[in-house]
Amino acid sequence: MMIFKQFILKTMIRLFGAKGFSKMYLATSKSKTYSIFCEKVYGRDLCQANMFDEEQLQKLLTSLNLNSSHNLLDIGCGIGKIGEFISDSTGASFTGVDFAYGAIGDAQVRTESKKEKVSFLVGNLNNLKDVIFEQYDAIVLIDSLYFVSDMPKCIESMKSFLKPNGKLIVFYSSTKKPSDNSFDLLPQNKPVGIALTQSGFAYETYDFTVNEKKIWEKSFHVAQELKASFIEEGNSEIYKSRIAEAKRNLKVHEKELILRNLYVATLQ
Ligand SMILES: C[S@@+](CC[C@H](N)C(=O)[O-])C[C@H]1O[C@@H](n2cnc3c(N)ncnc32)[C@H](O)[C@@H]1O
Repeated sequence: MMIFKQFILKTMIRLFGAKGFSKMYLATSKSKTYSIFCEKVYGRDLCQANMFDEEQLQKLLTSLNLNSSHNLLDIGCGIGKIGEFISDSTGASFTGVDFAYGAIGDAQVRTESKKEKVSFLVGNLNNLKDVIFEQYDAIVLIDSLYFVSDMPKCIESMKSFLKPNGKLIVFYSSTKKPSDNSFDLLPQNKPVGIALTQSGFAYETYDFTVNEKKIWEKSFHVAQELKASFIEEGNSEIYKSRIAEAKRNLKVHEKELILRNLYVATLQ
């Protein structure tokens, strides 16, 4: 299982390096059909590239509890529409970081009129000290920690970017082994939980496993429904990748080999 997981991760990194992610975002952000896909699957079009829907967004907003005096950092922000939406709805300042330079360039152009409040940086999750020089009231990592080379080191590095009492919020889906017992399945015994504890964070967790399975089911059906529209736009690659991704993830969910957790952490 471990070898299989590493193989999948290496394949994803090969396919989706900074260039691959940029290419994918530039296609999805310009596709009218993808916009309809996001509305139908996630409940809102934020050009999502993940398993993050309206239910999780609302839980994130409640957990963040931001106002216009706060600032927020999203690491692995992609095209940055999630953070832009949070800034628009709370008044908080927002900075998004991603290594997908194409997505960051696109986000900077899109939010030019909001640049007092919304900004974007090209940066690598594995070496953020080169680009982040501020401290934040909250940091979010939505489905970006899979790509980090050293999870404990990355979580430890977050401490220097957080203000005192700042929140670190992570959405992460972990695989499980058929032999795992109930102790192994607790969120505190999964890689994010272990790394947070090692770095001195206290946290609450929320389970979104059932919600995630529903997202993959919807992704599969909605992609099928929109197939002709994707092809007509010249975006059959988006269609194919959504179907392949949904099928792959549904197989894992059907065997109950995945857990999705939200971690809301603060330093002790
Ligand atoms: C699954 S996507 C999630 C995107 C976004 N957080 C969302 O929820 O829609 C993972 C993101 O992590 C970014 N990423 C992957 N490896 C990275 C790295 N080493 N440094 C910075 N960003 C990275 C990708 O470019 C991509 O935008």
